[in-house]
Amino acid sequence: MPLNNLDWNDIWNEMMQANQKNDHNRRGDCANLWDSRENAEHFWERSRNNKARVDKTLNELPLDPDYSVLDIGAGPGSLAIPLAERVSHVTAVEPGKGMLEILQENIDQYGLDNISCVKKRWEDLDVNNDLKGPHDIVIASFSLGMPDIREAIEKMQAASSKYVCLYWFAGETPWDSHSRKLWPLLYGGEYIPSPRCDVLYNVLYNMGIYPDMHVFSLEYDNSFSSMDEAVDFFKSRYTIENQQQEEIIRNYLEEVLEKQGDRLVESGHTTRVKLWWQLQTEEQKSR
Ligand SMILES: C[S@@+](CC[C@H](N)C(=O)[O-])C[C@H]1O[C@@H](n2cnc3c(N)ncnc32)[C@H](O)[C@@H]1O
Repeated sequence: MPLNNLDWNDIWNEMMQANQKNDHNRRGDCANLWDSRENAEHFWERSRNNKARVDKTLNELPLDPDYSVLDIGAGPGSLAIPLAERVSHVTAVEPGKGMLEILQENIDQYGLDNISCVKKRWEDLDVNNDLKGPHDIVIASFSLGMPDIREAIEKMQAASSKYVCLYWFAGETPWDSHSRKLWPLLYGGEYIPSPRCDVLYNVLYNMGIYPDMHVFSLEYDNSFSSMDEAVDFFKSRYTIENQQQEEIIRNYLEEVLEKQGDRLVESGHTTRVKLWWQLQTEEQKSR
């Protein structure tokens, strides 16, 4: 294929679908991982313990008390909850049943009356019918599980009046590294990771969007009170159907978990990327 004809959206699509099929179609698309209340609770707990990530994200957004923010793939509200305390309105789009349950409980617990929730995948949402007007900032933070990323970004632009801000991964994550080793043992096949920020940048570039980019490191850890708890957590990420597969997970965790006091810890390092841009005004477009 001539190099100048590479369709990066096709590459993203193919890689995302291959990644989502990793699960041998057992669990379907990536949002389904978050149908589980237990997984959602665990995510919220980790998010609260890693306040630095949330603070950094919020401090780097051009927030204004009058702004409205659209948070795509809001999860349990890691960003949506503190955002609602700083802007006039937050719309949280979240398809995962478990995530949405925790998000709604958090909205009640924090006594917030300026968050509305839309229970949909971004690709299934209709900007004109499901949202109230454009939002000043559209953010999708580690939630780009959409196979047609070009269409998803076009829709984000249609839903925004000022900024679009995406967070995604660069390089191999600790969970990819575990999967790469575990996949052949559990399922006899090769693990295919989701597409990374290199593909995303090229999709944007082909769309005529030249985003600002910021690369940063984030330490990642999961702490467990026992090996059984660690095995249960890992089992929720994979599809474990028999005792032999559970043993594979247990043996693997015995090798990789570190003892820290009375806890067992899975730790690793991730490289994350923020890509953001300001929408052109009608006047800029006509120049
Ligand atoms: C890793 S969590 C991130 C949560 C939150 N944005 C944050 O930064 O803490 C990813 C979330 O994206 C959601 N998600 C995945 N694919 C999605 C899609 N196609 N449309 C909307 N949300 C999606 C999942 O349900 C999940 O809650």
